[in-house]
Amino acid sequence: MARSKSGIRTLAIDIGGTGLKAIVLDEVGTPLTERVRVETPRPATPSAVMEALRDLTKPLGAFDRISCGFPGVVVDGVTRSAPNLHVAWAGFRLEADLTRRLRKPARALNDAGVQGFGVIERRGVEMVLTLGTGMGCALYLDGRYVPNLELAHHPFKGKRTYEQYVGDAALESAGKKSWNRRVRKVLEQVMRTWNPRVVYVGGGNAKHLKGSLPDGVKLTDNIAGLLGGIALWRDA
Ligand code: BGC
Repeated sequence: MARSKSGIRTLAIDIGGTGLKAIVLDEVGTPLTERVRVETPRPATPSAVMEALRDLTKPLGAFDRISCGFPGVVVDGVTRSAPNLHVAWAGFRLEADLTRRLRKPARALNDAGVQGFGVIERRGVEMVLTLGTGMGCALYLDGRYVPNLELAHHPFKGKRTYEQYVGDAALESAGKKSWNRRVRKVLEQVMRTWNPRVVYVGGGNAKHLKGSLPDGVKLTDNIAGLLGGIALWRDA
């Protein structure tokens, strides 16, 4: 594998429902470039998103490998669903397509899963909730990730799922004050159900949370969604 002066360079990508983000990290996960971002193209089909990613990442220069967070279920590098992108992602070979287009080995994981790797302490049960276009959720035991826990689409209040209750559309329709109350209800439920040591809350809408949060809840920076990408190559 090609080595630059600072070692192996990882291109970290975060595919989001609203924005596509990317950065290059050094061997220990420190950013080597600016974070770049574009709006997610609509309709967000695989080809539209993959083309936008190629243009987005071009100015970042050389890299040796790719990490990618994806807003849906990913199994063995293949995407199964993407509720906030497009139905055409069912069965899309994301890792293989990234490698074909960007000519480097690629690893992909659910976006909340990647985010968690950027913040967890690898001790006991830790959870991540991301508040963005959708609601991401990730669970870890002693740093080991339990993949694809899709809490977002589980019923929460009446016929509404967690994501319908606190996702971006809910923030818009309910307003910030009531959305804040809703997020606290979700946190209470999550804490009671999984009894995690910590719940890390991130995502683009976490900045709208006001006031104190329950014990055991920590706010995290959204950049973790990119920085966590280094963990996908920890065994390499
Ligand atoms: C998806 C999750 C994803 C979350 C945040 C949800 O709609 O089902 O897989 O992590 O959105 O992007």
